[in-house]
Amino acid sequence: MCRVSGYIGKKDALPIIMDGLRRQSYGGYDSAGVLIGDGFNLACVKAVGKLENLEKKLENQPLKGNWGLGQIRWATHGAVTEINAHPHQDCKRNIFLVHNGIIENYRDLKEQLIKEGHTFSSGTDTEVLAHLIEKYFQGNLLEEAVRRALKDVRGTYGLLVVAGNDPEKIVAARLSSPLLIGINNGEYILASDPTAIAPYARRIINLDDYEIATVSQDDLRVIKEKIPVFLEFTAEETEKGECPHFMLKEIMAQPETIENAIRGRLLFEEGAVKLGGLDSVSAQLKKINRLILIACGTANYAARIGKYMLEEYAGISAEVDVASEFRYRKPMVDEKTAVIFISQSGETADTLAALKEMKKKGVLTIGITNVVGSSMARETGSGVYIRSGPEIAVASTKAFLGQLTTLAMLTVYLGRQRNMSLVTGGRIISELSNLPEFARQVLKSAPQIEKLAKKYSEFKNFWFIGRKYNFPIALEGALKLKEISYLHAEGAAGGELKHGPLALIDENFPTIALCPSDSVYEKMISNIQEIKARGGPVLAIATEGNKEIKEIADDVIFIPKTLEMLTPMLSVIPLQLFAYYMAALLGCDIDKPRNLAKSCTVE
Ligand code: G6P
Repeated sequence: MCRVSGYIGKKDALPIIMDGLRRQSYGGYDSAGVLIGDGFNLACVKAVGKLENLEKKLENQPLKGNWGLGQIRWATHGAVTEINAHPHQDCKRNIFLVHNGIIENYRDLKEQLIKEGHTFSSGTDTEVLAHLIEKYFQGNLLEEAVRRALKDVRGTYGLLVVAGNDPEKIVAARLSSPLLIGINNGEYILASDPTAIAPYARRIINLDDYEIATVSQDDLRVIKEKIPVFLEFTAEETEKGECPHFMLKEIMAQPETIENAIRGRLLFEEGAVKLGGLDSVSAQLKKINRLILIACGTANYAARIGKYMLEEYAGISAEVDVASEFRYRKPMVDEKTAVIFISQSGETADTLAALKEMKKKGVLTIGITNVVGSSMARETGSGVYIRSGPEIAVASTKAFLGQLTTLAMLTVYLGRQRNMSLVTGGRIISELSNLPEFARQVLKSAPQIEKLAKKYSEFKNFWFIGRKYNFPIALEGALKLKEISYLHAEGAAGGELKHGPLALIDENFPTIALCPSDSVYEKMISNIQEIKARGGPVLAIATEGNKEIKEIADDVIFIPKTLEMLTPMLSVIPLQLFAYYMAALLGCDIDKPRNLAKSCTVE
């Protein structure tokens, strides 16, 4: 996804802007560009492909100056070419800008601007912004022209603008795309993502929708007064360290992910949980009799498990939808409905759009997110942070565990407001506190899983099956495998096998079967038998101590015994590792799979 980076201060701007782009590049991109200002001179270099290509060009064409901006582009409008890469400029090459988002009415604007005599050089939606600002920039201040131009625009933007004839200033504007300003003794670092700011500043301003900031060497002006908050993580947390990939680092960090999510929140004596972010809506939540959980991708699979937890233990009717569907249908909601939005980044466009739709209807909205101060956190006002720390690999792993931990706590929170007993609440939270240790035990199977990946890497197609709490894990296991290894993988509910999937089963189509010792174990064993009877290889995920399964499945990975509702938090780990080792064997770009983005900030 597109990300922007900017700097103004006393230091050499280029290394800081390039570092900002590199730190944000985990989300995927296809071209990059930078612009550096030195007095009235603005110089710009762009390149298609990886940042290394841009770096090579910059070796022959060094840019010096202490202010500037940069962008990594993930093409939406216009092919992947150098001309379409940002920064974009006006006719006079005076105004330059970088943009994250989409200008929805760019066709109309472009047509009008061409009629007025403007000449376009790229095929992007973004370029209209440069010409619009040019149109309104007539001897006035750059920020005035930006403000006026944005009034004509429909769409989303995290925008940085500079002008040669109003130098040594960056104008930043935001609408539905993240934009942050790091503050550090007379210098400002601008970025879409806090990971780019962490090494340079500890205080940040999170621009709100419709805010425009003007940043110069000794001044920062925002239309609305903002209070800086402190970043919650360190620069080290955004580095790979010894691990070959962020994804492996993040899978291995999951015991700590659970610890961080539960820290200070479990009230053992009361069999309850404390979720401070829900205090302000606690009375309202008591009156709710229906929950809708909305999310995309992996977060949506967490929501599906949350539904099982909330219905079984909190006794509240719960339904789940993907945000891109929910936002366009006409959901029936009333004052007894609360909508829970789940998003690692808190910036997924579809999820945010669904959230805004629900706010318009006056429904109680709750956010479950990882990124402090993200759009979702600010829009919902109440919710729970999963505290997973920066997740860099595109394929989500530790945030999924953080989301499940949080949903389990939310179940106890809402359950204890209703009919859940102290004993049941106590049992769930005491088992939650055991999970980090259990997760460590599962991670010890990594060498066994690496060997199994070698064995199964000869296959090209995979089924993943599970029932009840582990049905969404089957979907997530298939998603992980296809996302990063590009192999064909499908997830299905065990009970649906006979309605289609069985037709594909033969000795070349293996199944990964989730069959922990839970209330649907016998049913899963029947499903495995059905597959074995048709010659299909089976790799089972089962509970330690199960002797029978070894006789039925070809291979088994064991996980510790825990409460049925918490098994997904353990059973998903072998599947994450399986996908990781398969992708590694196939030589795939694990952290940045092709065509995918970490945070989909456009529809
Ligand atoms: C993208 C990512 C997924 C993620 C999904 C939702 O597709 O590649 O890993 O699950 O977006 O992201 P969110 O930040 O809303 O959880």
